[in-house]
Amino acid sequence: MQQWDVIVIGAGAAGLFSAIEAAKRGRKTLVLDNGKRIGRKILMSGGGRCNFTNIYASPANFLSQNPHFCKSALIRYTQWDFIALVQQYGIAYHEKTLGQLFCDDSAKDIVDMLQQECDKAGVSIALQQDIQNVSFADGVYTVTTPQLSRSCQSLVVASGGLSLPNLGATAYGFQLAEQFGLNVLPVRAALVPLTWQPADKAVFEEISGVSLPVTAEANDVVFPEDMLFTHRGLSGPAILQISSFWQPGDELIINLSPQQDLNEFLLEQQQKHPEQELKTILSRLLPKRLVEKLLELNVFQNQPIKALHAKSIQRLADSLTHYVFKPNGTEGYRTAEVTLGGVDTNELSSKTMEAKKQPGLYFVGEVVDVTGWLGGYNFQWAWASGWVAGQYC
Ligand code: FDA
Repeated sequence: MQQWDVIVIGAGAAGLFSAIEAAKRGRKTLVLDNGKRIGRKILMSGGGRCNFTNIYASPANFLSQNPHFCKSALIRYTQWDFIALVQQYGIAYHEKTLGQLFCDDSAKDIVDMLQQECDKAGVSIALQQDIQNVSFADGVYTVTTPQLSRSCQSLVVASGGLSLPNLGATAYGFQLAEQFGLNVLPVRAALVPLTWQPADKAVFEEISGVSLPVTAEANDVVFPEDMLFTHRGLSGPAILQISSFWQPGDELIINLSPQQDLNEFLLEQQQKHPEQELKTILSRLLPKRLVEKLLELNVFQNQPIKALHAKSIQRLADSLTHYVFKPNGTEGYRTAEVTLGGVDTNELSSKTMEAKKQPGLYFVGEVVDVTGWLGGYNFQWAWASGWVAGQYC
């Protein structure tokens, strides 16, 4: 039986970071992963450029049943710490929008950096390890794969969430938590496109590809960003963001004119171009194909704007700024960026990420019930929670 101080399950962002930190402290550390290479999600993140953190990351950007839990880790390992590491490796990066930092070149730069950090600290990595069993006796964990059994004093579970099952995602981390008597909160796909009801699909699939800035609102939470009509439903950053707050059966309220007071705009156009038809006027503000669809749906009648009373203009402005969709569901884990829910934070120490009732067992990253907004926040949680566990495991 191989003996280790620390075994980490999962060679993703959180697992590699905790392993690096543990090994720096002189702990003999092994990372096990079921895939053929490390950091597979990092490689495909951010369209291949990895949105590795966010300048504005703060606890307010995370969802959790206990919103205070993430504070300790995020304060102790901040976005500035990770940016310093990226700079130390000379990786070129840029801010795309809203504080989101991306590699100029490739997400591979981040994975190479992590590999070098692992090498420097002396982390061992074993790939294509399908973990079949974990047991605990006399203060020692035994991790069994078909190849061999390994023992360790500290076991760090960084097995991620359920998104992208074809990339190796498994529910093993949740099962392991339950095996040791820890509560696991219900999970669901998040940062995910929403799908049409059959009737809406018939209407809106014709305008797939249309994209525009909106605000998307569900359950009193509002995100301003772009929205994209697709064959299957609604996507784009505004929709991915709101999907974390939307629940099946909820309405989704879209403001199609978030940047301009629509009532004011229409009144002004009425003064300037009284003879112009509404379709022409609305096309100045909204994509033409969308305007045609709204006309087809009788959201407005195409007539010269001079024919409208102030009240009708107000009604039209209201309907376009509170356009209600009732999505059927989400595209699920097949395309979701993250998994909401997971290991209940009440079971863990926010200082160390160790299970309160199971010494030596740590949970980090996405397997924990802490989920970030879209925009580099999920990696920041992975780095921060992994770093914290690495100081103690
Ligand atoms: P992660 O899932 O990365 O790693 C877990 C590892 O454990 C995997 O390698 C898995 O194969 C392995 N594993 C699972 N079960 C196992 C078992 N039983 N035995 C052995 N190994 C096992 N976030 C962000 O901040 N910026 C971004 O740009 C993006 N972009 C993005 C794009 C796409 C397409 C997706 C799907 C996700 C993102 N994300 C993101 C989210 C981000 O990728 C995610 O939150 C982190 O990778 C989570 O890191 P973890 O280390 O917790 O899990």
